[in-house]
Amino acid sequence: MRVLVTGGAGYIGSHTLVELLGQAHEVCVLDNYDNSSPVVLDRVRKLTNGTVTAVEGDVRHDNTLRDVMTTFQPDAVIHFAGLKAVGDSMTNPLGYYDVNVNGTLALLRAMDEVGCKRIIFSSSATVYGEPVYLPYDEAHPLNPTSVYGRTKMMAEHILADWAQASGGTAVLLRYFNPVGAHASATLGEDPADVPNNLMPFIAQVAVGKRPYLNVFGDDYDTPDGTGLRDYIHVVDLARAHVAALDYAADHSGARAFNIGTGQPYSVQQMVAAFRTASGQPIPVVVASRRAGDIAAMQADSSRALSEMGWRATHTLDDMAASTWAWQSGNPNGFQSEEG
Ligand code: NAD
Ligand code: WQD
Repeated sequence: MRVLVTGGAGYIGSHTLVELLGQAHEVCVLDNYDNSSPVVLDRVRKLTNGTVTAVEGDVRHDNTLRDVMTTFQPDAVIHFAGLKAVGDSMTNPLGYYDVNVNGTLALLRAMDEVGCKRIIFSSSATVYGEPVYLPYDEAHPLNPTSVYGRTKMMAEHILADWAQASGGTAVLLRYFNPVGAHASATLGEDPADVPNNLMPFIAQVAVGKRPYLNVFGDDYDTPDGTGLRDYIHVVDLARAHVAALDYAADHSGARAFNIGTGQPYSVQQMVAAFRTASGQPIPVVVASRRAGDIAAMQADSSRALSEMGWRATHTLDDMAASTWAWQSGNPNGFQSEEG
């Protein structure tokens, strides 16, 4: 298929490009490099020996989208482009609604103009909010507690209405906690500022960039008192997009899929795995709970297996070892190659 990948230079997008090229799909990336760099695409080209057409532009701009659609004529779109920091979304709600919701609207309009009927969307487990039951299945009520989560829920509703009206296909992938890096150690997560998420923070402590990890609460109702999450290796996640493209080829309408492993790990378990992988001590300091955090979340991903034939295969050790290989081999991320 010819696949337009918005946000393809980002963390999950870049790993997905590798898997798409490995399956002989043709790709075109649209990215404004707001949270990434064209260097990432050079790494993908080097790694795959593949062709990655890249257009620098904003997913909210109708003219840019029209040009890309008419030139590339995609069979499907994978829509990663968006803003993802929960805390920032609370202080900059309009910016988040603009990029995440208006960006999705603009993309669908442009798809309609060229008759492109398939889209795979980066949604998030955060659309569920405080768990009514665990593991979350896709029928769990949607009750996001942040602006970020609401932008993803709104985009899901828009995509579902579009699919219904147009006869198109919208695959809504609800990612749990993506972590890890490509086995080559040439691609990985490269946060611009202080990492918000656990795994990149641990990695920066391990490599000596930060003195210790704050553990946000050790008095949760969990076996060791620290928060439980369903971490998913980014390469497994990337492969879920390839499976979703195959699914979209012979289904119509909107369908949501949880993308996790079903096996939650605590903050302490993540630190322990990283100590083993890195051989570094990784000091921790117990801090108070982070506002808005829930104790535990866990995916029921059985629908992804039964309907798309996808399941996660990477282990916790793979997640820690690949993150360490990436972080230690690229202590400044992609920065050293940027002009
Ligand atoms: P990322 O920031 O690394 O990638 C997003 C990409 O989109 C970046 O390359 C950025 O430059 C680009 N972008 C941002 N705004 C744009 C715009 N207006 N026009 C064009 N490009 C734009 O993030 P990621 O972790 O790879 O996440 C990808 C998607 O998955 C996002 O939509 C995110 O909300 C979603 N998601 C991420 C996680 C996670 O924990 N990483 C979890 C669930 C869902
Ligand atoms: C994991 C656990 C923290 C940092 C977020 C978004 C979600 C999705 C994934 C985009 C929690 C603890 C963390 C630290 C810590 N993103 N922690 N010290 O909050 O589950 O999910 O990222 O869609 O929408 O909300 O992930 O990695 O921030 O936290 O103790 O320095 O690690 O309290 O228990 P979270 P996280």
